[in-house]
Amino acid sequence: MTIPLEDNFNDIIGKAMRGLKISDSQVAEQTGIAALEVKRLREGEFNEVAARKIAPLLHLGADALVEAGRKSWHPFPVELEQLALFNTPFDDVTVNSYLVWEAHSREAVAFDTGSDCTGMLDLLKSKGLKLKAIFLTHTHGDHIFDLDRLMEETGAMAYVGELEPLDGAHPVVEGSRFRFGALDIEALLTWGHSPGGITYVVNGLSLPVAIVGDSIFAGSIGGGTVSYEEALKNNREKILTLNDSTVICPGHGPMTTIAEEKLHNAFFTGHL
Ligand SMILES: [Fe+2]
Repeated sequence: MTIPLEDNFNDIIGKAMRGLKISDSQVAEQTGIAALEVKRLREGEFNEVAARKIAPLLHLGADALVEAGRKSWHPFPVELEQLALFNTPFDDVTVNSYLVWEAHSREAVAFDTGSDCTGMLDLLKSKGLKLKAIFLTHTHGDHIFDLDRLMEETGAMAYVGELEPLDGAHPVVEGSRFRFGALDIEALLTWGHSPGGITYVVNGLSLPVAIVGDSIFAGSIGGGTVSYEEALKNNREKILTLNDSTVICPGHGPMTTIAEEKLHNAFFTGHL
């Protein structure tokens, strides 16, 4: 299954303009591009010359933005044993949830539930796994839609960032550590998209894995709804400083790696 990139070049431009609170006319004024041209770009009409002109004002990497405009980059497909991605529909988008398990103890942990946890329940059953915990990246509805059912059917405990409390879920703070057999999970506070978003760094599989929720996407970010500045800072300081081989598991779009995002994510190329 190839999941398309979550954001097009104009989504990236829109997120940067909203984050920096810059209007079409301000972009026009500061770059010498006609306001109508800026509007066209924002609405999805790609123009490389204009994109390269506005990139510096929006603190975006011009080459990465052009790659997004030309649709010339997609992350190399990630396949990792003992890691499964579930891509479930929610309104007109799709949302990802993940299952990670330990080969010997058969203990598994879930990250978010997506809109429908049926696929996850089926895999737990077919592989003879016992779900020990459900870690939530944040509490936006699409990510936790099937939480009650997953808890009920498995008896697993739920965990959520303490800044986004949820009835019946245990609070997680920056630095919280969990161990399930050979799996070691560390929580990092990566807020900005949501008030208390958590990234879970999992060690114990053949590569390190970061389940990031909507903090960062392949080629984009989830949007700094709460704080654009903090969203960028947390991504830069806590996620993009992980080992280059770390697999990034985002809440939307395909899996990617730290190394690929350093080269292809317009929000960060040139600023690391
Ligand atoms: Fe979200």
